[in-house]
Amino acid sequence: MNVYNFIVDIQRFVEEKHNLGLKVGFVPTMGALHEGHISLINRAKKENDIVVCSVFVNPIQFNNPADLEKYPRTPEKDITKLEQAGCDAVFMPTADEMYPNKVEDHYDFGEIEHVMEGACRPGHFNGVAIVVRKLFEIVNPNKAYFGEKDFQQLAIIKKMVRDLNMNLEIVPCPIVRENDGLAMSSRNVRLNEAERAIAPKIFATLNDAISKKDALSPSEMKKYTLDKYAEIKEFDVEYVEITDEINLKSLENWNECDHARIFVALQLGPVRLIDNVRIF
Ligand code: PAJ
Repeated sequence: MNVYNFIVDIQRFVEEKHNLGLKVGFVPTMGALHEGHISLINRAKKENDIVVCSVFVNPIQFNNPADLEKYPRTPEKDITKLEQAGCDAVFMPTADEMYPNKVEDHYDFGEIEHVMEGACRPGHFNGVAIVVRKLFEIVNPNKAYFGEKDFQQLAIIKKMVRDLNMNLEIVPCPIVRENDGLAMSSRNVRLNEAERAIAPKIFATLNDAISKKDALSPSEMKKYTLDKYAEIKEFDVEYVEITDEINLKSLENWNECDHARIFVALQLGPVRLIDNVRIF
């Protein structure tokens, strides 16, 4: 596997592949790779001739400086895991390489950007959009792979690609979980033993709520979920939302959409965790 730190080098690598008529799949990440990330690499391998991954902890998408500082960084381990997964090239730039000048772009994706993660983390999706657009322009992939773990991010990137007529396909990939149901996340390593033991209740509670669907309206299901989380003193819930999957608008009635999802964000010890599950 080739490891590139500079934009010109990864550009040359991909250009050579395109000139040979090969299809390039791309998996953007912030590293500290786990099986969730590797599932994206595996999917990209199946659907393309060449797979490129990027590992870049993007400073401009962190609205909390402590979160940026504590974000796990394991570049050597990441390279080994990517090599084992059969990735062809990894792009690991420095922040100076990505942002030689002050970044002033501003994206507005409308309502979809102002709910849930957008409301709790001001500027976060603007930082995501800036880096993902730059990475798409650098890597120029045929397809790019994103996890449903970050469902709102996926929805915003799909909208960006549509709005800007970008010539690539966005492929959504299902959430990979630990055996006990906890959604895999690079941040999970920061949980202590007691916090890790309670963390599976995030997913279990969402499933419990979904199982009551026939008896509850969306707002009643939201209240039921919030009440269940409130019973667990370690959880400090930021939001529970029940929305359609396209516009991420809160539902009043189940018949408003084809597919609905329940979302949660909560603080557990030092870590902010998110999860979501399709209701139907
Ligand atoms: P990161 O959190 O490293 O995630 C990279 C990709 O892996 C995202 O598409 C994310 O949804 C996916 N992913 C993470 N955990 C997953 C899991 N348990 N199951 C399936 N997929 C999972 O998301 C980012 O980085 C950044 O915002 C990025 C898009 C790279 C821009 O900086």
